[in-house]
Order: sequence, then C-alpha cells, then structure tokens
Amino acid sequence: MPALGVNIDHVATVRQARRTIEPDPVWAAVLAELGGADGITLHLREDRRHIQERDLRVLRETVQVKLNLEMAADEEVTRIALDVRPDQATLVPERREEITTEGGLDVIAQRDRIAACVERLKAAGIEVSLFVDPVGDQIEAARDLQADAVELHTGRYAEARTATERLTELQTLKRAAKVALDLGLMLHMGHGLTYRNVRPVAAIPGVSELNIGHSIVARAIMVGFEQAVREMKRLVENP
Ligand code: PXP
Repeated sequence: MPALGVNIDHVATVRQARRTIEPDPVWAAVLAELGGADGITLHLREDRRHIQERDLRVLRETVQVKLNLEMAADEEVTRIALDVRPDQATLVPERREEITTEGGLDVIAQRDRIAACVERLKAAGIEVSLFVDPVGDQIEAARDLQADAVELHTGRYAEARTATERLTELQTLKRAAKVALDLGLMLHMGHGLTYRNVRPVAAIPGVSELNIGHSIVARAIMVGFEQAVREMKRLVENP
C-alpha cells in the first residue's frame, strides 16, 4: 500500500490570489496529517506563485510526517533546501509559463546539472527523487545519478480520454515501475491523480508513494463550502 503525500500548493494559491494570510498551508498540513497523510509535499517555485519561503520554513518546524520539497535543480532553491533540510527533495522541471509541471525531467539531456544538485542534496542527508516520464532510459539515468527514487509522471494516464487509452497508459506505468524496481530505485508516482482514477495506480506493485494535490484541494473546497456559508449566514443573521 503506497504512502499518501498531500501536496498543499493550491491552498497557497488561494491565499496568494489576495496576497493575504489565509488560507494558510501550514493549517492545511495539520489537517492533512489528522486525515492520515503520510507526507506533506510542496513546490517552492522560482516565481513564488503559491508556496513562499516562509511556508517551507514554518512547515519544517511543524510537519511531523515526511516533508517533501518539489524543486527545480537550480542554485537558489538548492541553497534554500540545503538550509531548511526537507526529508526528501523531488527534482522537477520548471518553466515560468507553464500552468503546472508539464513533463518529467530530461535527466539525460541535463545530466551534469542534475547530477551536481543530487550530489549536494544527498551529501546533506536529503533523500532525492527525480520526477520523470515513465520511460526506461530516463529511469536508468536517474539510477546512474544515484537518485534514491523516481516519481513517475502519471499525467498521460490521468489525461487519457478513453478506456483503451487509459489502459495503455496504465501498462506503460506498470512497465516503467518494473524497470525502476529492478534497478533498486524507490518508486513514487503522481500528477493528475483524482478520486476517480487513483485506485489502479495505487495497485501497481511496488509503488511506495503517491503525491496528490489539486484533486484533494478541489474536493476540500466542495465538501467544506456548505458549512462555510452556514457559518457566515449565522453571523449575517445575528448582527
Ligand atoms: N508530483 C509532482 C512532481 C508534481 O509536480 C505535482 C504537481 O505539483 C504533483 C505530484 C501533484 O499533482 P496534482 O496537483 O495534479 O495532484
């Protein structure tokens, strides 16, 4: 049974829409832990569009489960990671214009840059996972760089339009999973997983961590909206 890493980025997205103090991802992390999260995942993006450095630093103090920092392999965030020391760093590609992380890392093309980053993080005792597409060569390159884990990108599976397409993408994930496990890597998966599509992925043999964000935040808004309105209504009715 895989561990559940809850990505709280989009709690911060709502806060940043107003540049205010709520909702605080630190509160969300506490609630996620109460709900059974095995890890808290956050992405400190270069453009700081959601998570801020303050969030990472406070979460390092408060989170009791695994703290997983998604980050680009660049100098500024690497220095922050080395200072804050999350339990795990997941290296992801990052482009300013993208809405979310669109593809896996090209570990082969960016080998030297990623290798240097992996080495520094590992030397500081931080476990390193590389977010890659479910492609054998990329997984092998991750192993060559001595990553501890790969996180296989489940986006294509999540975006499949037909049952046949979904099955094909699931088979691709299963094949890639076997490659990773045979190479001795820890196996994580994530991106685009929802309440509807998660179960076949959670059932893939050997997968030890799933990182899920958007769908959980979206659900939280919906399951909490009615109560939130009731509470405001009570105040309005009792001025
Ligand atoms: N894993 C990685 C590496 C990601 O970049 C993201 C998105 O930040 C996720 C998992 C979570 O994806 P989603 O928000 O679609 O659940």
